[in-house]
Amino acid sequence: MARISDLTLEQKATLVTGAGFWSTQAFPDAGIEPALVADGPHGLRFQDESGGADHLGLNPSESSTALPAEAATASTWNTETLRKLGEVLAFDAQRLGVDIVLGPGVNIKRSPLGGRSFEYFSEDPHLTGRLGAAIVSGMQKYGVGVSVKHFAANNQETKRMTISADVDERTLREIYLAAFEHIVTTTRPATLMCAYNRINGVPASEDHWLQTEVLRGEWGFDGYVMSDWGAVDSMADAVAAGADLTMPHAGAAAIRSVVDAVESGTLDESLLDQACERIVTVHERLRAARKPVTGMTSERAHEIVREAAAESIVMLKNERSALPLAPEGGTIAVIGEFARTPRFRGGGSSMVTPTQLDTLLDSLPSATSREVVFAPGFTFSDGDAPRLRSEAVAAAAESDVTVLMLGLPDSYESEGFDRTHLDLPPDQIALLKEVAAAAETLVVVLTNGAVVDTREITPRADAILEAWIGGQASGSALADVLMGVREPGGRLAETIPERIEDSPAHLNWPGDGSRVLYGERIYVGYRYYDTLGIGVAYPFGFGLGYTSFERHGVTVEVPKRAEAAALVTLTVTNTGDRLGSDVVQVYVHAPHAQVDRPRRELRGFAKVTLDPGESRTVSVELDQRAFAYWDGEWVVEPGEYVVEIGASSRDIYSSHTITLDVPERVRPLDYDSTLNEWMEHPIGSQVFGAIVTAAGDSVAGVLDDPTLVNVVGGMPMRKSLAMFGGEADPDRAYAALLAQVESQMRE
Ligand code: BGC
Repeated sequence: MARISDLTLEQKATLVTGAGFWSTQAFPDAGIEPALVADGPHGLRFQDESGGADHLGLNPSESSTALPAEAATASTWNTETLRKLGEVLAFDAQRLGVDIVLGPGVNIKRSPLGGRSFEYFSEDPHLTGRLGAAIVSGMQKYGVGVSVKHFAANNQETKRMTISADVDERTLREIYLAAFEHIVTTTRPATLMCAYNRINGVPASEDHWLQTEVLRGEWGFDGYVMSDWGAVDSMADAVAAGADLTMPHAGAAAIRSVVDAVESGTLDESLLDQACERIVTVHERLRAARKPVTGMTSERAHEIVREAAAESIVMLKNERSALPLAPEGGTIAVIGEFARTPRFRGGGSSMVTPTQLDTLLDSLPSATSREVVFAPGFTFSDGDAPRLRSEAVAAAAESDVTVLMLGLPDSYESEGFDRTHLDLPPDQIALLKEVAAAAETLVVVLTNGAVVDTREITPRADAILEAWIGGQASGSALADVLMGVREPGGRLAETIPERIEDSPAHLNWPGDGSRVLYGERIYVGYRYYDTLGIGVAYPFGFGLGYTSFERHGVTVEVPKRAEAAALVTLTVTNTGDRLGSDVVQVYVHAPHAQVDRPRRELRGFAKVTLDPGESRTVSVELDQRAFAYWDGEWVVEPGEYVVEIGASSRDIYSSHTITLDVPERVRPLDYDSTLNEWMEHPIGSQVFGAIVTAAGDSVAGVLDDPTLVNVVGGMPMRKSLAMFGGEADPDRAYAALLAQVESQMRE
């Protein structure tokens, strides 16, 4: 049992920073053992520090299972898949002796240009929170801790260590904190990683409101907060704010500064003790919970990531039944360097060394008896582009079907920088045009961590598969999907806009170098496109499969149970002739809200996999929060809501108006409250009524005239007292009225 009380002040100041790059401090005499941490979230990037450690993917790491990137796994919309991927991470962590995996990343994709879009799940906080919670549960079940990152509002790479995300509280609560909140309140994560950036001018690592009042006070977090690598400027201020552990090792001067802060009285020693307690308690809790991931091997892990990669693939188009490819027939041309050199992992902290690597070029011939020919078409560096193109065109012209793999090379997207456009490399677009003209049937497969401009592709391709960054089994998973061994199981977790200029943050991205204004507020992703009716290339939630579904018997009930505000039930039938999965998406709209609200917001979903002809009844429960907005607290207004059930945000097949019978919220009256607000307030209206009666007919006359009420109703009451009330000291008179209301409210 660790004993913080046995440590000296210097030792405690040392314990709140790492021992090295990937480890925490040990004080064996006090029973304190070190813990090892490693990136996450797409597989373990575990480095033996003697071989060179870094947080940018520069030095080698031990091999471990490379998962599909979160941008891919989000497209599964399948919490069970995410839970299994968590088990794979737990298995590798235990194999390598890692105590805490640095992930998942649950920041919201504010703009598709964000350099780390591949490392985050979605533009939607509900989906992000559910998938994030599932992968966390998969790991923590086996006593492997997580560090849910990056807390918070870490949505761009430009100036990521200093930029201030200037964002109002409603937007923070509804969009940027909601996934963290769900994970903290449902899975008890071991740690959170605080972000590099500032929020409204305050560094996340020094934000007491965020790290202590909200995270622990409101959400009940009982783990510890570690810093992102190099995020902390002042260790003493971080400890005071509730950011307990500074990573990596901060050096002697930083440790000394904590000692000095305690000795000079600027840091309360009890806060340092508390940070130390949190760190050692979490490590002990994890060790006590550790148990092996039974049945898992590296081979099984490879199978799991292969299934997940196939389930992540989103089929955007499939005309003339181009897919799946027939098992027998003429030649298949495979074109694109990605088929031979897959981009299976992201950059920076996602630079995982895989345990094995499947390419499409190796996998496809074993999945079909058809002849497969290959032409690279382009290179990732300088090559003879015209020659490569003409070879590719010849291969396409001589084949029955062409699978053309396009995508973003590493140099186009990574941790550390943002994109400036959505374009594919120009040589690939040139290749696309020439190959499309020559190919009889063209299937385009995209490899990218964040969405790309599809306007050149859509009209030219018969079928399009968005395959993302698919992990170490991406090649075999793609072969499975092409040949119909598995369906493309994905649905978009982020909108593909027509043009970057259409995207919500476009006018406020990436800020002026020191601040970035979140001017689009809560209107992120489809919340923006759908509210404004802006055309998109492919909507949120969209994805085709190899079978068809009928959804029937949809009901939306309002049960009389406190925890459930609404219950959606429907039956889904697989009407095609192949196994397939349907994602039931439930959106909510509040048409008569007192504040502006998005046209629709995802509040629930369920994935069902059905055999041909099979039917299943699906239920999705919506809690009170599904109807709430933030206004200093979560507010659910009584009245009508529209519950929409769809196959994407633009394909709603059933819409129901329900009425929620919840108590009307009484908005407190304050210094600026208007006449109208006084008249609507249950007590305020009585107090006001008494004033009107006392004032006599002239004032009552004003209130009887609807036009005059419109004119004066929006004025602050205190101004009316000054102008019309004849009060000698209107401010004092107003304060007395407020006090009267408050005291009657208390009664
Ligand atoms: C990244 C984190 C990562 C850490 C350690 C930082 O640069 O932002 O996501 O966990 O490095 O590699």
